[in-house]
Amino acid sequence: MTILVTGSAGFIGANFVIDWLSEMDETVISLDKLTYAGNLNNLAEVEEDERHVFVHGDIGDSQQIDRLLHTYKPRAVVNFAAESHVDRSIHEPEAFLQTNIIGTFRLLESSRRYCSDLNEKRKRDFRFLHVSTDEVYGSLDEDAPASTESKCYQPNNPYSASKASSEHLVRAYYHTYGLPVLTTNCSNNYGPYQFPEKLIPLVIHNALAHKPLPTYGDGLQIRDWLYVGDHCRAIRMVLDEGSCGEVYNIGGLNEKANIEVVRILCDILNELRPVNGNTSITSYHDLITFVKDRPGHDRRYAIDASKIETELGWRPAETFATGIQKTVEWYLDNQEWVDLVLSGDYHQWIERQYA
Ligand code: NAD
Ligand code: DAU
Repeated sequence: MTILVTGSAGFIGANFVIDWLSEMDETVISLDKLTYAGNLNNLAEVEEDERHVFVHGDIGDSQQIDRLLHTYKPRAVVNFAAESHVDRSIHEPEAFLQTNIIGTFRLLESSRRYCSDLNEKRKRDFRFLHVSTDEVYGSLDEDAPASTESKCYQPNNPYSASKASSEHLVRAYYHTYGLPVLTTNCSNNYGPYQFPEKLIPLVIHNALAHKPLPTYGDGLQIRDWLYVGDHCRAIRMVLDEGSCGEVYNIGGLNEKANIEVVRILCDILNELRPVNGNTSITSYHDLITFVKDRPGHDRRYAIDASKIETELGWRPAETFATGIQKTVEWYLDNQEWVDLVLSGDYHQWIERQYA
């Protein structure tokens, strides 16, 4: 059996492919456009694995996707491919609409065509799993209950609006065409291979370079952090046992204010890589800098993940304390990986965002 994983050279996609090949005896066709966020080094661990076939391509290229589906006949498509960075979506939204909406639409169309040529048994067993985000539910007040799968969608930035839109298309393909779809809405991930424009790897990178740790606004915005390995396991379980047409929330049971996350990172770094005595700072905490807030910055996200726990028996295995410690250690041990991803594009982005 074979699955097609899109966005496989990105942060979560790469973790998923590595996790899949270590847990399952099934081939993975992994497709990625290799945008600035996609990096083949993320898949270096499985480069030699005969069950892994990497294809450079775009989910919006219908001819290529049709060809792949008919050649490899996967039993499932797992769609991670997306433009995923909220701040970039504020500067240049169009790519988000192109990949997240049109790309998802074309992938759904190809899957529908492919499915209609399958025999009854294979058609019944086929799954299209769409990976989405808690951001579609919008911002919550401090004491509001966590978002369940039935909360109305209130996306507040171009990224989350494009993801919400893609989810509506996925839902429509189930109801209109009977395509066997599943959707997951996950909270903020952290762990190995995350591109250092996102908060946690950015803070680790800047701290080690003794640069400011940019904290937006008052730093009291709340996110629910989940270790990426727990997300990958949840997706495997939903693919295996989830009911078609259903949406599953995935969350870390771990709400933290951004400033708290930044402080925890400083504490861990102070211990693992103490500041050298010859500098103007005595601790990484000295680098914390409050900067202009993100426009439309959602104040709080919180995910109610009781459905996936009750129906499929999933719960996060990592606590934030164990997950964040592993993550910092991974970045310290993989400085070469960080150096390789910091291309010209990265430097231009940092200039533009934090100027
Ligand atoms: P990422 O930006 O690290 O990776 C996205 C990958 O998709 C990159 O490798 C990129 O090259 C690829 N890609 C972009 N456009 C493509 C296209 N048109 N065709 C093929 N490949 C394309 O993102 P991530 O953090 O790994 O997120 C993966 C998915 O999970 C996204 O759909 C995102 O919305 C969702 N998600 C992310 C988080 C998070 O905290 N990172 C949380 C919940 C959901
Ligand atoms: O909630 C899930 C979402 O999490 C995913 O859907 C997105 O794909 C993923 O990128 C992530 O979005 P965020 O915007 O929450 O991630 P980011 O790491 O960019 O920011 C986390 C929080 O930290 C957010 O409240 C903004 C804040 N922040 C971020 C950066 C980059 C800062 O305070 N300073 C920064 O420099």
